[in-house]
Amino acid sequence: MPHVRIAFCCTDTKPEPWLAGLRAALPGAVVEVWQPGAPPADYAVVWAPPQAFVDEQPGLKAMFNIGAGVDALLRLRLPPGLRLVRLDDAGMSVQMAEYVCHALIRHFREFDGYEADVAQGKWSYRKPRERSEYPVGVMGLGVLGARVAQAVAQFDFPVNGWSRTPRELPGVRGFHGAQGLNDFLAASRVLVNLLPLTPDTQDILNRDTLSRLQPGGYLINVARGAHVVDDDLLALIDSGHLAGATLDVFRTEPLPAAHPFWQHPKVTVTPHTSARTLRTESIAQIATKIRRLLAGEPIDRLPGVVDAARGY
Ligand SMILES: NC(=O)c1ccc[n+]([C@@H]2O[C@H](COP(=O)([O-])OP(=O)(O)OC[C@H]3O[C@@H](n4cnc5c(N)ncnc54)[C@H](OP(=O)(O)O)[C@@H]3O)[C@@H](O)[C@H]2O)c1
Repeated sequence: MPHVRIAFCCTDTKPEPWLAGLRAALPGAVVEVWQPGAPPADYAVVWAPPQAFVDEQPGLKAMFNIGAGVDALLRLRLPPGLRLVRLDDAGMSVQMAEYVCHALIRHFREFDGYEADVAQGKWSYRKPRERSEYPVGVMGLGVLGARVAQAVAQFDFPVNGWSRTPRELPGVRGFHGAQGLNDFLAASRVLVNLLPLTPDTQDILNRDTLSRLQPGGYLINVARGAHVVDDDLLALIDSGHLAGATLDVFRTEPLPAAHPFWQHPKVTVTPHTSARTLRTESIAQIATKIRRLLAGEPIDRLPGVVDAARGY
């Protein structure tokens, strides 16, 4: 392997196991935690790096994000030629499918209600619901959304999908673009958000859009907190138009102690845990991509290269 230097700059991440894994996967590469004044690196492995890191490393050929969402990276001032590469699944899509199917089925089968009854020693019975009356709309049909849509379809729910450009997936009724949004929402009762956070999608789940869902709608947000206008969601739940929500992501994380989502009886909160970065899978994926680049492959052939103009 040619001499290559990799800077590791990941906030809130224990570096040692990552360094050991990257060194083992890329023998001969110099892999070090970035510190101010460090020598210039060829590549970087990052999570929420400070602006100072980018400013001090103008010669980076590519920056590998150890997550799927790059909204925080794109808020930094980046040199014009710097390419960003995000995780492409790396074990996240199966976790998302588990999380969303769990939240959907918990709501549809009223397991939350049974749990509350059982806690009071009550042997209760609820009338079975019609699956056909719970069409599920998945916003974002990328790496994660496509897997989720297909997992949901396996449980025989009607499934709609919405993307920027047309996408065809077996068992999924496709809608696309701004012109397709209202029809997609009107055809859906349970809404699953798996969009990237971009200027086009910020605040997209608001009073207008959420009120277009079928009555008794339910929101599962596993993308980013800034997609949702919190007060609009709460107002629609409190008015009865929406039955509730399962939320994994929030505008401010950790969710502030005084936020009404914590205590709301119809809102289920989880601490941004729907799809965790898996270290072994992520290291293997990043190392493979670096090897391909070092072998002379053009970066645009790699999966997960970010289109900064598009925002994801
Ligand atoms: N909660 C967690 O733990 C967690 C973990 C990982 C990721 N995430 C979030 O999940 C997001 C999705 O990840 P991914 O890997 O599936 O991303 P992806 O492969 O880039 O897919 C994004 C999808 O969204 C669609 N889209 C983008 N902008 C749109 C717009 N303006 N209108 C309609 N559709 C639009 C894209 O349409 P096209 O198909 O036409 O391009 C694509 O289908 C990430 O950005 C991240 O925020 C959350």
